[in-house]
Amino acid sequence: MSTPDQRELTFRRPVEADYPRVIDVVDEWWGGRKMRALLPRMWFQHFTGTSWILETAAGRLAGFAVAFVSQDDPTTGYVRMIAADPNWRRGGLGRALYARVFDDLQARGVRRVRAITWPGNRVSVAFHLAMGFRVDDGPGTQRLYGTPAYADYDGEGEDRVVFTREL
Ligand SMILES: CC(C)(COP(=O)(O)OP(=O)(O)OC[C@H]1O[C@@H](n2cnc3c(N)ncnc32)[C@H](O)[C@@H]1OP(=O)(O)O)[C@@H](O)C(=O)NCCC(=O)NCCS
Repeated sequence: MSTPDQRELTFRRPVEADYPRVIDVVDEWWGGRKMRALLPRMWFQHFTGTSWILETAAGRLAGFAVAFVSQDDPTTGYVRMIAADPNWRRGGLGRALYARVFDDLQARGVRRVRAITWPGNRVSVAFHLAMGFRVDDGPGTQRLYGTPAYADYDGEGEDRVVFTREL
């Protein structure tokens, strides 16, 4: 399936009613990883102003991004999840979602954006590097799947690469 022309795609804010169809696809979109528990409904209730839904003219979900401004440090933004339909990858949808997220966060005074990923998700690591993020390789990191990462960062066995990008 060829990537839809980006002029035929609509970017809009999520609404709560989007929640079921997003969690319906996340496990598949993450290659079978159990992701839906990481995306409870509250993200579609309280974080919509800095998040995006990307859909085709026919209303098919093509991608989404969930992001927010840190309450503790309003100069920091955080991207919780970003994804594109597996059938339409490498067509710039992820990049286009990030461009909107960066614009949102910058408009709210954010100066740096953080994101994390599982180090075995090599595509996510490559994607974030391509989006201008750097990998935290400071004390406490070790090479996991070839990338500096924190072991057990989010609990036992939940290793994570920590990314930062200045805006
Ligand atoms: C990561 C993801 C969002 C990228 O979406 P995408 O629409 O395919 O990305 P883009 O086409 O905008 O790619 C932008 C750049 O990222 C890099 N990139 C993307 N996919 C890549 C891959 N499979 N291998 C290597 N580099 C890749 C490339 O540099 C690419 O630019 P290029 O195509 O001009 O070379 C998508 O693969 C996805 O949804 N993965 C599953 C969910 C996930 O892991 N999300 C990230 C963690 S929250």
